[in-house]
Amino acid sequence: MVVAANFKTNHTRASTTEFISFVNDFIANGNDKHQVRIYPCATAFDNFTLQSVCKVGAQNFYPVDNGSFTGEVGFDQLAEFDIDSLLIGHSERRHILGESQEFIARKFNFAKERNKEIIYCVGEPLAVREAGIEAVMQYLWEQFSDIDITYPRLIVAYEPVWAIGTGLVANIEDIAQTHARLREKIDAPLLYGGSVKVENISEILGVANCDGVLVGTASWQKEAFCNMIKLAQMIQ
Ligand code: 13P
Repeated sequence: MVVAANFKTNHTRASTTEFISFVNDFIANGNDKHQVRIYPCATAFDNFTLQSVCKVGAQNFYPVDNGSFTGEVGFDQLAEFDIDSLLIGHSERRHILGESQEFIARKFNFAKERNKEIIYCVGEPLAVREAGIEAVMQYLWEQFSDIDITYPRLIVAYEPVWAIGTGLVANIEDIAQTHARLREKIDAPLLYGGSVKVENISEILGVANCDGVLVGTASWQKEAFCNMIKLAQMIQ
């Protein structure tokens, strides 16, 4: 199981360092049953000493080792901090930053060639969810265009766009059905993301084919994130 925190554009370098040290101590204290991932802002990267189940990863990168891409971060810069885990395809990058499926696939293939762990995010907007499960699956499969779903270091995160940062959670039956449909073709771990919090994580992790969570807002508070790691430990 994976419990992951996506900081998005939150926390400073100082508060990230404090967060990671707090969470790492918590994991070291017998809370190491599951994998933990933390995706802070790139400005907060450092050479952290971490428990073996915990990795600090990158929310974003440009698919080059280095070059002339003003404002972007390439793999040479990530390598300096031993970054091994990457988020790709997040809905905020698709819908707010305008990343196309073609560009996302390019990032995926670049990371795959370098054998990085990839949390690959997919999710449908509300209008598609309202059109029913077949429309949802068609939309999601399009987000897998040119993506190698057999890549051994792939983790998929299903994050309905309308449930991200809104406090709205997909209902449990919809999560179960969507994960079951993804599982028909995908062997990789399947995470759920979208308004996961201390109050609902246990129910969500109890869904068949749900192998973890990718948490935004509720993960930004270190005590809450540790509580979620603790609650995940109590599942199975
Ligand atoms: P929220 O938990 O804030 O809904 O964000 C989910 C998310 O986008 C994680 O990547």
